[in-house]
Amino acid sequence: MSTVYFDGRQEKRVERYTKFWQKDLISESEADIKNRLDKYTDVANGLFHFSCRRLRRAQTTRRSGYYDGATELYEYGWAESFHFSRFYEGEGFAASLARNQHYLAAYMGLRPGMKVLDVGCGVGGPARGIARFSDVQIVGINNNEFQLGRARRYTEKAGLSDQITYVKGDFMKLSEQFGDNSFDAVYAIGATVYAPTWEGVYGEIFRVLKPGGVFGVYEWCMTDAWDPSNPSHKELARQIEFGSGIPELRTLKVARQAMKNVGFQIEHDEDLAARPDEMPWYYPLEGDIWKAQTAWDYFTIWRMSWSGKLVTHSVVKSMEWFGLLPKGTWEVGESLKVAGDALVKGGQTKLFTPMYFMIGRKPAVANCGAVRY
Ligand SMILES: C[S@@+](CC[C@H](N)C(=O)[O-])C[C@H]1O[C@@H](n2cnc3c(N)ncnc32)[C@H](O)[C@@H]1O
Repeated sequence: MSTVYFDGRQEKRVERYTKFWQKDLISESEADIKNRLDKYTDVANGLFHFSCRRLRRAQTTRRSGYYDGATELYEYGWAESFHFSRFYEGEGFAASLARNQHYLAAYMGLRPGMKVLDVGCGVGGPARGIARFSDVQIVGINNNEFQLGRARRYTEKAGLSDQITYVKGDFMKLSEQFGDNSFDAVYAIGATVYAPTWEGVYGEIFRVLKPGGVFGVYEWCMTDAWDPSNPSHKELARQIEFGSGIPELRTLKVARQAMKNVGFQIEHDEDLAARPDEMPWYYPLEGDIWKAQTAWDYFTIWRMSWSGKLVTHSVVKSMEWFGLLPKGTWEVGESLKVAGDALVKGGQTKLFTPMYFMIGRKPAVANCGAVRY
């Protein structure tokens, strides 16, 4: 019997997150990848065993996961929006995250009154930003109960509960949950990379969009320069996967083809990380406080520095020991460190992008429902 905690974090098994990866990431086999793809919800949202007695006042059987452990670390170390963004010199960290969201909303042509789906909405940071910017009605879907609870709380505090609602669900079953032709627009920020196949999730998005509707996505991809037969390239991808709870990273060519395969007309596609920005998207992860663009950002960047990480991880370990944080949080923090270093390397070498930007249109007369991936 496992446990569901009062805040939505859940326990099902004692197995650890790391069991899905070989210790030596370079020796990963096709079978390991297939196993992760088969258990894609477990990889992101189903792995942690919590021993916190204070949290144990709870009901019965369901799951917890990577995001039960990582969510508070993301919020503390980054923001309520769990995505990367482009920076211009002098631009503050929060302003840059907001600009990245507004860029997507503007490109998609979101207009007041539209019904919009946020796929893999996290704790709702982007939904709140886009709701304010575009005056649209948003439904956020996420399969992590803990994040949904926080999303609802923050949204109520922001006075946006009449504009944004949140539902629990799997983005591989959107049409089952919402029905075909339900939304004017759909967006996904750094979330659909968790899907076992892009055809699967893009196909579901295609179905729930009304004919003529628009889909905008910031996708995490390996770039076309990435060569899986090169051991160091392969290891880089595995480190990002392991540190971020992603079953398998794929190339942007595969993402573009998947959009076409499910029926989208691609109106724009571009790797925004390839733009010659003076401040690269990964600069906050480098932990170099001298690069902070505003006084407030010193603290954000410091948290990513070696001393910041040392302090965070010592505090997390102690809180875990005293039962104030779920067991496993420290271990997720360790995997996040692996991801941080690998993401910087991926950015510097341009082998990885967290912002392959695609805008797809469902044709006004679409053969919806013919193909299910
Ligand atoms: C990196 S976070 C991005 C969150 C949000 N888009 C943001 O930018 O703040 C990825 C999100 O995808 C969600 N997710 C992963 N697999 C999912 C699935 N199968 N169905 C629904 N949501 C999923 C995770 O729970 C998490 O909230």
